[in-house]
Amino acid sequence: MLKLPGLIDPHVHMREPGASHKEDWDTGTSAALAGGVTLVLAMPNTNPPIFDAETFDLALTSAAAKARCDYAHYVGAGPENARAVAALASQAAGLKMYLDMTFGQLRLDDMTLWQEHFQHWPRERPIVAHSESRSMAAVILMAALYDRSVHIAHISLREEILLIKAAKQRGIKVTCEVAPHPLFLTQDDMPAISRGHPGRGEVRPRLATQADVEALWQNLEVIDCFATDHAPHTLAEKDGENPPPGFPGLETALPLLLTAVHAKRLTIDDLLLRMVTNPRKIFGLPEQPETWVEVDENAEYEIHAAEMKSRCGWTPFEGWKVRGRVRRVVLRNQEAFKDGDVLSSPGSGHNVRLPSKSNS
Ligand code: DOR
Ligand code: ZN
Repeated sequence: MLKLPGLIDPHVHMREPGASHKEDWDTGTSAALAGGVTLVLAMPNTNPPIFDAETFDLALTSAAAKARCDYAHYVGAGPENARAVAALASQAAGLKMYLDMTFGQLRLDDMTLWQEHFQHWPRERPIVAHSESRSMAAVILMAALYDRSVHIAHISLREEILLIKAAKQRGIKVTCEVAPHPLFLTQDDMPAISRGHPGRGEVRPRLATQADVEALWQNLEVIDCFATDHAPHTLAEKDGENPPPGFPGLETALPLLLTAVHAKRLTIDDLLLRMVTNPRKIFGLPEQPETWVEVDENAEYEIHAAEMKSRCGWTPFEGWKVRGRVRRVVLRNQEAFKDGDVLSSPGSGHNVRLPSKSNS
């Protein structure tokens, strides 16, 4: 049995408020624990979006009532809220800036709006940018101009990882994350994922080419974090008229990466650096005391959505053979997951941005 620290996922979508038929804080944090993740940072592109004190409170109320693992919540950058969100910075996971088209209403087009957020958001607090290709180059320039850090979400292209590599070499304070799907899937996997329903393969950024996937693996040292971008939508929605982009990922990330460890594509230390040490450092997260994950690294099995805790009911990795199964998760000295069952109760998760509760 392999004993790992609790994993940190700095990029998940919990869908509450507004779309709890896809996922809610209970099912989403259950999925986290089943995947060996004990701390999640939740994105603000909900309905309504989380972009001021009132909506932030709404999200935190659901999380406080239902979360089964620890968490913090992002606030979203909008066209008129730079001052309002900056006032929430100490309680937020970070500021999320959506700079390209994707799911939800949050989007900043005009670069003067980016500047307002870079001016007001405290320097020591994380800014995470959804920025693809050239908007990524633009936001890295913005970070350099304001001499502050920026974390780039879910990179997927060769040109992106090479850009970040060059920026880091130049001393610009940029960090980045890669989700499992750009490491393991290409456009060529679309038919197998779609099974006749092309909407299932929709995800932003889009699945890329084999050359892009290879560039990510070849430049692993440039990748600071593995983050799932767990983005659950129901199969009915994925197969419907306007399929929303997004893949669930919390329950498949660790087994996929452990399978890659077995294949000697990376080491356990590479994995822990990107799923524990670096996210803790980049996002300024506390250690979770007496928290660990027990994994049977030799268990071989097939991935099946039917066995998952996520409410969305599907996975792009259906039928994949993997090696490494989470057996038990202990969170702050309490058994939180064991052999397929989530044991921690809704509301037991702590918001790590709030002063710690007394021994609860
Ligand atoms: O595919 C995606 N889904 N990309 C995003 O940026 C958003 C996410 C979602 O919230 O569904
Ligand atoms: Zn996302």
